[in-house]
Amino acid sequence: MSIRWKIASVCILLAVIPVLYFSQYTIRVFDGFTRRMFEEQMIDYAHVIGDDFRRQFEEQRPDPHFVQRLQDYQKRFEARLMIVQLDGYVLYDSEEPSIAGTNIGDERDIRLAMDGRYGARTRLTEDRQLLFYHIAIPILSSEGERIGVASVQAHTRDITRAVKAIMSDYRMAMLVAAIIAVWTAILFAWTLTYRLRALTTAAKRFARGETRFNAKLRGRDEIAQLGKAVAQMADEINRISQHQSQLMDTTVHQLKTPLTAIKGAADIISEENENPETRERFLQNIHKSADRLMAMIYRMGEISRLKTEELRGTKTSVQYEHFVHEIIQRLYPDVCPRIACNIQTDDTTVWLHPERIEQVIVNLLDNALRHTPETGTITLCAHVHNGKMITTVEDNGSGIEPSDLECIFDQFFTTVPRTDSGKGGMGLGLTIAKSIIENHGGTITATSAGPQQGACFTFTLPL
Ligand SMILES: Nc1ncnc2c1ncn2[C@@H]1O[C@H](COP(=O)(O)OP(=O)(O)OP(=O)(O)O)[C@@H](O)[C@H]1O
Ligand SMILES: [Mg+2]
Repeated sequence: MSIRWKIASVCILLAVIPVLYFSQYTIRVFDGFTRRMFEEQMIDYAHVIGDDFRRQFEEQRPDPHFVQRLQDYQKRFEARLMIVQLDGYVLYDSEEPSIAGTNIGDERDIRLAMDGRYGARTRLTEDRQLLFYHIAIPILSSEGERIGVASVQAHTRDITRAVKAIMSDYRMAMLVAAIIAVWTAILFAWTLTYRLRALTTAAKRFARGETRFNAKLRGRDEIAQLGKAVAQMADEINRISQHQSQLMDTTVHQLKTPLTAIKGAADIISEENENPETRERFLQNIHKSADRLMAMIYRMGEISRLKTEELRGTKTSVQYEHFVHEIIQRLYPDVCPRIACNIQTDDTTVWLHPERIEQVIVNLLDNALRHTPETGTITLCAHVHNGKMITTVEDNGSGIEPSDLECIFDQFFTTVPRTDSGKGGMGLGLTIAKSIIENHGGTITATSAGPQQGACFTFTLPL
């Protein structure tokens, strides 16, 4: 079941159930109220004839026109009226044929009234078509003595008809209200899910290869926010795929350069095979280009491994100051004086992969040495701050353009023009360094005030 039908069903239930319940309740209340009013009216009629009878009873003078008056009342009230004696015999009856002289003292309403209480009952005619209401009240003399019973009978046909007519109008109104409620619920559900459907359509189109994610969702509610989030995700996917294809172009280009050199050298060797010197020179070129190609492929593999998996091997706790000095003395004995060390880490130990962090430091120092003249200086500092080991490698060499700083950690990025001789770097060292540092839970950044202003690389390692 789709979400719009679910919402519509819930709304319909919420709208229709109260409408139905309310209509049934109102009908019941209205029916009860009408019947009560009807009964009270009958009691009033009983009082009217009861008062009339009391007058003639107290005057001790039987009225010969009493029956005539009862018949007049019957016409006016549309109800049969009777005066019953306390022994149960009917004294006066407004109906023709009259049942005067008949004993009806067994009827419940009459019996109750003879006992001084209010009596009421209903009776269905034999053909079950009409319902009669019977009420009876005691007639009291001025002294409060019981002198007879006033009885009123009336059928409920008219009132039932009226109630039915009103009820059918009312039911019609409720039906219209229910239809409007259902319609509104469906409209509401459709409006709510319309934007979800638009979002789904846009996502499907994007999945089929459309580069633009076209779902304009107005508003600020959750659905609009979801639309914005999906649009952002689509932008990010576009950006990544653009980056991937650029990377692929660069990789192809990078691999092509040494391969072209190898092919060129091999062609020359096969053509100039008589001159041993030329052969030797081009053979060496082939070796150099092949080595570079191998190194490049190895390092590219390293980058992709570093991005997708944890560093292999176990971390060791190393005394950082000793660790850095040892690297410099072992790997840079000739240039040691050019590298000023300012390591204030006391005996602080860091939990790290020694060969990997050595790889980072070596790349930073190699870069600094390559981009700094012989007279320039390179400073390696380390200190502890906020629970982190902070290491900086700073030089006063060629510096980096601000625009280049943004992509300095990108794969194959280099400011040095590449030559076929393969002297320039591959532009992979900083990418690898970044992956290693991030793998350790640290960060690496580069700053430079601009060309010829030197450069400073800082990396952090959590302690
Ligand atoms: N200290 C520095 N001063 C100026 N430019 C630098 C410095 N360090 C790095 N660069 C620039 O950043 C580029 C990328 O450096 P990275 O170490 O990634 O590659 P690389 O040194 O060229 O080659 P390799 O992959 O062998 O390390 C360098 O080619 C250089 O242009
Ligand atoms: Mg490098």
